[in-house]
Amino acid sequence: MMDRPNDEPLRTPLCDLLGCEVPILLAGMGGVSRWELAAAVANAGGYGMLGMVRESIDLITREVTAMQAATDRPFAVNLIPAATEPQLLEAQIACCLDLGVTAFCFFWDVMPDVVARVKNAGCLVLHQVGTEAAARLAEEAGADVIIAQGIEAGGHVHGRSPAFGLAERILAGTDLPVVV
Ligand SMILES: Cc1cc2nc3c(=O)[nH]c(=O)nc-3n(C[C@H](O)[C@H](O)[C@H](O)COP(=O)(O)O)c2cc1C
Repeated sequence: MMDRPNDEPLRTPLCDLLGCEVPILLAGMGGVSRWELAAAVANAGGYGMLGMVRESIDLITREVTAMQAATDRPFAVNLIPAATEPQLLEAQIACCLDLGVTAFCFFWDVMPDVVARVKNAGCLVLHQVGTEAAARLAEEAGADVIIAQGIEAGGHVHGRSPAFGLAERILAGTDLPVVV
């Protein structure tokens, strides 16, 4: 998977944006996407995400530090702003920024101030959405990548329609990369 030449079909502009070799992203699953799994995905050429929803600063510090030791590949931290008490959310973001995290993946309600907070710190923002309206809000808020979640998804499901149809409709209204 490593050193894949630029002209190979699996190498898409999303790979250049995220710094991965193939456009395959690990979902930032809370309680599941810990550093071992995320680093394995990143080291295999995909894009790793740590699922850190509502986790403590201590755990986030340990997970991010272990991830950084296990891979030199870029990765994101997944948080769910609307499901996190504001003080904890701010502490989570500040902790990640202090540790040198360069990308965040958010989910559920789009909270523009949270997107702006990490964009202003120079980070990439991936935003998972379940509707076209949420995709528009995420783009307006400054997201760099939209992730379309279909109704068939596992975990907490915001999607109201099948993922591929949703992704096509989102793609029709944006120039951003759209991930299923
Ligand atoms: C066990 C589990 C936990 C999840 N936790 C999160 C989470 O914390 N944050 C998030 O953005 N998405 C979470 N998701 C949803 C995924 O991001 C994604 O939408 C979903 O896995 C796609 O469905 P699929 O796994 O059936 O393809 C979770 C999914 C699963 C299966």
